[in-house]
Amino acid sequence: MDSIDAVLTTHPPRFDEVEAAAIGGDVFGVVADGAVNLGSERDQTFLLTSSRAPAAVLKVSNSAESTANLDMEALVVAHIARVDPSLPVARPLMHLAAADPDAPLSYRALVGASQAHWCRAYPVIPGRLRCNPSELSDRAVIAWGETVARLARAMRGFSHPSAHRVLPWDLKAVPMVRGMVAAIRNPEWSTAVEQVLDRYDTAIAPRWESLRAQVVHGDLNVDNAIVDDDGMISGIIDFGDMSHTALITDLASVIDSLVLDRTGDDSFRIARLVLDGYQRVTPLEADELLVISDAWAARAAAGIAIGSWRSAEGLEDPEFAERDLVRLYAVLRRILDTGFDEAAQRVSGISPMRSRDELIRRREDVFGPAAEPLTYDEPLLAHHASGVWMYDANGDRFLDAYNNVPCVGHAHPRVSEAIARQSRLVNTHLRYLHPTAIELAERLLATCPAGLDTVLFVNSGSEANDLAWRLATHVTGRRGALCTHFAYHGISEAIAPMSPEVLYKQQHSDHVERWRPADAYRGEHLDASQFVEALARLESKELPPAAVMLDGILQSDGVQVLTPEYVRDLARRTHEAGALWIADEVQGGHGRTGEAMWSFQRFGIKPDFVTLGKPMGNGHPIAAVITRREFLEDFADATVIFSTFGGNPVSAAAGLAVLDVLEDERVLPRVAAAGQMLRTAVRDATRDVSCVGDVRGMGLANGIEIVGPGSKTPDPVAASNIKNAMKRNGVLIGTTGAAANVLKVRPPLAFTEREVPVFVDALVASLRGLDLAE
Ligand SMILES: Cc1ncc(COP(=O)(O)O)c(C=O)c1O
Repeated sequence: MDSIDAVLTTHPPRFDEVEAAAIGGDVFGVVADGAVNLGSERDQTFLLTSSRAPAAVLKVSNSAESTANLDMEALVVAHIARVDPSLPVARPLMHLAAADPDAPLSYRALVGASQAHWCRAYPVIPGRLRCNPSELSDRAVIAWGETVARLARAMRGFSHPSAHRVLPWDLKAVPMVRGMVAAIRNPEWSTAVEQVLDRYDTAIAPRWESLRAQVVHGDLNVDNAIVDDDGMISGIIDFGDMSHTALITDLASVIDSLVLDRTGDDSFRIARLVLDGYQRVTPLEADELLVISDAWAARAAAGIAIGSWRSAEGLEDPEFAERDLVRLYAVLRRILDTGFDEAAQRVSGISPMRSRDELIRRREDVFGPAAEPLTYDEPLLAHHASGVWMYDANGDRFLDAYNNVPCVGHAHPRVSEAIARQSRLVNTHLRYLHPTAIELAERLLATCPAGLDTVLFVNSGSEANDLAWRLATHVTGRRGALCTHFAYHGISEAIAPMSPEVLYKQQHSDHVERWRPADAYRGEHLDASQFVEALARLESKELPPAAVMLDGILQSDGVQVLTPEYVRDLARRTHEAGALWIADEVQGGHGRTGEAMWSFQRFGIKPDFVTLGKPMGNGHPIAAVITRREFLEDFADATVIFSTFGGNPVSAAAGLAVLDVLEDERVLPRVAAAGQMLRTAVRDATRDVSCVGDVRGMGLANGIEIVGPGSKTPDPVAASNIKNAMKRNGVLIGTTGAAANVLKVRPPLAFTEREVPVFVDALVASLRGLDLAE
C-alpha cells in the first residue's frame, strides 16, 4: 500500500477549540472567541465563532500534506473565480503577514510547535453543510448536476504538476482498492466490491485512455458542498481531492452521493436527473455515457473499500465509518441486483442492441399489417452508420447504395452537430422570430429560377405535396390531377390518389389520371401522346386539371431518364390546359442528379411549385414548398399557413447544414462523376449478362433493369434475388418500377468513385452466385 498518499495514513492534527480560535485571530486576523470542531477525515476543520456567530472557517492540514498541494488549491480557486465568477467557490483569506494576493503562499501559514501544520482560513458561506441528499428536491438534484458541470468547465484550462497524484477514490485509481478489500469485514460487501472491480477492468479500464481527462474537484458530494434553503449549492468547499483524471469522476461522485438513502428505482431516476443537469452544460461523449453507471458503481465500491480499510487502520472511528458503509452498500446492491448493463441503460438511456428476431416480432405486434414490410430476406438491424457505410449489430458493414435520405452521408458531423447545437439553444415555431428558417428560405430561393420567391416549411414530402396541391386547387378552382403511371407522391388523403405505386386498382380516384412516361429502353411512349390522352380523359370527365405532379427522376416508375424536350412539351401542354406544374423534388432534389440542385432544372422548365423533403435535413424531418407569391395572395385572404414543426429552428439548422456541406464538399460534380463511373463500370461488368437489360440513370439516381434472357420482359423474381444476394455480399440496394424488376441504386451522395469497384464486385458475385452471370 506504499503508493497511497501519506495524508491518508497519517493521523489528522489534534488542535483544540481554544487553539483554533487563537490561530484564527493571530494568523488571519479573524475576531473569534470560540470554535467548533467540524470533523474531517485527514485534516481538522473548525468553525470559528464570535459571540456564537460564525466568523470564519479554519482548516488545519494534515502534517503529511505537501505545500504544493495546498498551493494548487489556492491557485485553482483563483482560476475558477476568473473563469466563472458566479460559481460559489470558497476563496481562502490572506494571512496577516501576507502582501501579495497572487502568491499562493499568502493563503497558508505554518502553526504548531512539536508538529508543524499548515493552516488556511475561509469566510463563512451561508447555508447548510452535509445536507440529507434524500431530501433534495428534483429541481435541486438537476441544479447539482449543472453546478458540477460548470465547475469542471471552469477548471478545464487549469493545470498543476501536483494534480497528477494518485488518490484511491479517484476513478483512475479504483483498481488499487483491491488491496483494501481484505479489510472489508462483511463478506457480502467484499464480494460486491470485487464484482464492481471486475466490471471496472472490463468496462472502464479499456476505455480509460480515451475518456476526456482534466483536473477535476474529485470529491464533490454532500460533505463538500454547502446548500441553501432550496438545496441548491451555495458553496463548493474542499479542493483537497482534486486531481487530473477522467472528467466523469465528479459526475460519478455526485451521483454516488445524491442517490444515498433513495429506495428502489428512485436511485436511477436521481442519477438521470443529475445527468440531465450536467448535460445542460456539458454533453457527454458516447463512451462517457456508456461507462457513467459503472463509474458510479466504482465510486461506491471504492468508498466501501477505503472506509473499511481506514477504520481497520484506526484512522477513522469504526462506528462512524460503518454508518456510511451501510448506505454505500445499499447503493451498490441496487446496481448489482439490476445488473451492470441494465443499470447502464437506466442511467444513460442508451438501449442495448436487441436481437433481430425479437425486434421483428415486436415490430409486427405494434406496427400491424399495413406497415411497409422490411427490406431483404434477412432484414438489416442497423446499429450505426457513417458516410456510405451502415453497420449492423455484429459490426458487419454494408455499402449503402440505397438510402437517399442521408443525402450528404450517414451521420454527417456537420448536420448532427447543427441539430444538437440548435436543440440545446432553442427550438420553437415560426410564430417566434428566429434566423434559421429565414436563412434557409433565402438560401433555397437563391437556388431557384426567378419567380419562385416564397417558401413554406412543412415536415414531410407528403405534406409538401399536399400543401402544393391544396394551393393549386385553390388557385385554379379545379380538382383534376395528373401523375405518372406508377408514381409515389405521399401518404395524405389528398396525395395518396396520386401515389398509384401503393394503391390497389379499386382505390384509384376519378379525379386523377395517369400517363406512362417515356421508356427509352423499350422505345415506348417517347412523345407526349400518353400525357395528351390522360389530359383528355380528365377533360371528358369534366374534371379539368389543377396540377400535374412529376418526380423528375421517376424513382417509382423504374428510374427513367427523360429528355428536356419531352418534359418541356408536357409543361407547355400543362400550362396551356390551365393547370399548374408541381416539380416533386423529394427524390431528385438536393443534387441527386449531379447536374443541378433540382432535377427540374435539367429540363429547363419553370415549375409553379417545387416540393422538397427526404434529403433536406439528411434524415431530420423537414420539407418545403417553394412557389410564387401571387399564388398565396388570394389564399392569404382566406386563411393562414402554419405547421407547428415546419421550419422549426432545429430542422432549419439541419437544412442549412445540408446546403453547407453540398457546397463545401463540392458534392454535385462528385455525384456526376461517381454516377458516370458507376454506370460505365456496371455496363462493362454485365455486358455478357443476359438478365441485365438496361443500365441507366442521372448522377446517383440509377436503375439496372432485370429482364428475362433474350427478352425485355421484366423479371421481378431475379431482381429480388439479386437484391438479397447483394445484401449478403455487403451492398444495400432496392428494387423499383411497376414490375418491380429494376434494381434501384440510389446511395447517399457521399458515394464516390472509390465505392464503385466495391459495388461492381458485389454485383458480379451476386449474379454468379445466382447463376445469372451469363
Ligand atoms: C417522389 C416522392 N414524393 C413524395 C414522397 C413522400 O415523402 P414522405 O414520405 O416524406 O411523406 C416520397 C416518398 O417516398 C417520394 O418518393
